Amino acid sequence: MGKNIILTGFMGTGKSSVGTKVAERLSRQFVDMDREIEKLTGMTVSELFRRFGEVRFRSEEKLMAKKVAAQNDLVVATGGGIILDQKNMDLLRSSGTVVCLMADPEEIFQRVRRKRGTRPLLKKNLTVNDIVAMLEERQPLYDQAEIVIQTSGRNIDSVVDDIINRLRQEHGVL
Ligand code: S3P
Repeated sequence: MGKNIILTGFMGTGKSSVGTKVAERLSRQFVDMDREIEKLTGMTVSELFRRFGEVRFRSEEKLMAKKVAAQNDLVVATGGGIILDQKNMDLLRSSGTVVCLMADPEEIFQRVRRKRGTRPLLKKNLTVNDIVAMLEERQPLYDQAEIVIQTSGRNIDSVVDDIINRLRQEHGVL
C-alpha cells in the first residue's frame, strides 16, 4: 500500500489539473475534495457557503479530510483553505506526502478572476492586492508542506514531472 499524495496550495495554483495528471501518470485514483463534498451534499461549494455559511463548508471539509486520510494510494486535491485547520493537516500528513503548489499573486489573479463565481471567498471587485493579502496570511501554513513547487510560467506537464521526480528522489515514496 502506498502513501497518499496530497496537493495543497492557494486557489488557482492548479491543484485539480495537476492532480488529475499526476494520478494518470501513476495509475492512481484521483480525489478532488471539493467535488466530493459537492457530490455528498448535493450542493456546489458556492451554494454551501451561501445557504449555510463557511462554518458548514469547513465541517464538511473536515469530514472529507478524515475520509481521505483513512485511504491509501490516492492523489488528492484539497481546497485552498484546508491548511487553516491544523488538525486536518496533521491527519492528511499522517496519511501521505503533502505537496504544495505555489504561484505568483498576479498569475493567481489572472487564473481566478474568470472563475470567481465558483469561489465564494473572492469578492466581486477582486484585486491583486487582495490575493497578496490572503497569501501573506496563509503562506506560513502552506510552507509546512514537505514539497513546495513553483508553478508560475510553467506548463502542467513540467509541474507534474517535477512532483513525480521529487517524490521519488527526495522522499522515496513512489
Ligand atoms: C477555499 C478554496 C476553494 C474552496 C473554498 C474555500 C479557500 O478551493 O475549497 O471556496 O479557503 O481557499 P480551490 O482552492 O480549489 O479554489
